[in-house]
Amino acid sequence: MLDLCLRQGAPSARRPLALFRRAGEPVPEPLRLAAAQARFNGAENEVAALWDGARTVLLVGLGSDPNAVSCTRAGGNAAAALLTHPRAAFDARGLPPDQAAALAEGAGLRAHAFTKYRTRDDADDPPPRLTTLDVHVAAVRPMQAAWRAADAAVQGALFARDLVSEPANVLTPENFCVRLQDLPGVAIEVLGPEKLRRAGMGALLGVAQGSAQAPRVAVLRRAGRIKARPLVLLGKGVCFDTGGISIKPAEKMEEMKADMAGAAACAGAMLALALRDSPAPVVAVLGLVENAISGRAQRPGDVVRAADGSTIEIVDTDAEGRLVLADLLAWSRKTFDPVAMIDLATLTGSIITALGHHRAGLFGSTEAIVADLCDAGEATGERLWPMPLINGDYGDDLKSEIADIRHCLHAMPDGGRLLPDACHAAAFLHRFAGDVPWAHIDIAGVEWRAEAAALGPVGASGFGARLLDRLVALAFEGTRAAH
Ligand code: BES
Ligand code: MN
Ligand code: ZN
Repeated sequence: MLDLCLRQGAPSARRPLALFRRAGEPVPEPLRLAAAQARFNGAENEVAALWDGARTVLLVGLGSDPNAVSCTRAGGNAAAALLTHPRAAFDARGLPPDQAAALAEGAGLRAHAFTKYRTRDDADDPPPRLTTLDVHVAAVRPMQAAWRAADAAVQGALFARDLVSEPANVLTPENFCVRLQDLPGVAIEVLGPEKLRRAGMGALLGVAQGSAQAPRVAVLRRAGRIKARPLVLLGKGVCFDTGGISIKPAEKMEEMKADMAGAAACAGAMLALALRDSPAPVVAVLGLVENAISGRAQRPGDVVRAADGSTIEIVDTDAEGRLVLADLLAWSRKTFDPVAMIDLATLTGSIITALGHHRAGLFGSTEAIVADLCDAGEATGERLWPMPLINGDYGDDLKSEIADIRHCLHAMPDGGRLLPDACHAAAFLHRFAGDVPWAHIDIAGVEWRAEAAALGPVGASGFGARLLDRLVALAFEGTRAAH
């Protein structure tokens, strides 16, 4: 993890340096000629690597109207160009505190890679060497709040990323809980199979029953300082998704180790909240299971009973995430009397068909929760797009002959991708959220980067940790009872 150091005053003349420039802003001597030759003019995402006779100097464009999101990307782009140096500096003097902190946030996100299982050097793809970044500002004091928040957000996101990157032979439900034990400022309780049975979580247990790995539900809590009902975050934590008896095709099945990215994001958000000492009462409930296949695996046609007593007909055992979440929602609603519930889940391939890899799908039961989440998305660059939550239409499709509801429609020959399955899944979940203000974020497609980008290398993105941290800051730390 990149060590981010806040420094007051000018950077040293020897260390590799990044200078940040708005569109058209003059470049200082002696770099002016080289900048002109490189045709640098300060546009967004522009990076020019120059040599000032003693060291690398990067010119990094901020565009004509920089904001925290564009500065996060600029910081990431700068870090990407400095990865081969063990130590480097950013000159952030002249930028407002939130933008200077955003540069550091982007760098912290970009410079981290998951290399623990590499035992040899790969010359074509060397691990990042950048371990220390000095961020120079005119005055440290006005920076402190923004800096602390940025540092917390980075650590939360990287914690989530490292969990998602971990292979499923290592990160079992049990091992996931071990990694949560030492989160500072977070109380944890773990429910094993016996307690889950007593809580009536038959839907979650049905998913888990085919696996040799016993399920867990991890409950992370921060009491906060505000006297209010808690916000509850819920995460799909399917440590591996084979599809069960309705088994997935082999192609890309290895990516299903990331099917716990929703749970990882909730855990990362809790870490960020703790590190910046958020006053809001927040609980995270993580449903940790493996969807495996064996002689004990759940079958299509089975009927299970969820924590609210309702019965569910199983149609396709690969639609396991909504079963896990159904129990978490029903149980959390009665256990915590939440002010609102928000679940994150790599839930459906169909949301990728709808939105691709740029935005996550947002389904919300109140206008306020949808608006607040969209705002948090724009403020962090973890962007959302509202999708329809219409129980009459999509919910009616889920009628069952044998039980109260079925959990999905039959997959079609094309794998079901053309069905509005994301909308059916949301309508299904809504029944278990009841009348508690609730939002569901389908993060399938944004949890993993197929290509390196400004804020991270190929691999887990940590999507959701920064989003939820910001949502709490924007909507749950004031006295306003918005939800
Ligand atoms: N974990 C998958 C969804 C997913 C797909 C996440 C691709 C990330 C990338 C989920 O459990 C699943 O298998 N959904 C099925 C549902 C279908 C059987 C109704 C799907 O989307 O095909
Ligand atoms: Mn599945
Ligand atoms: Zn899944």
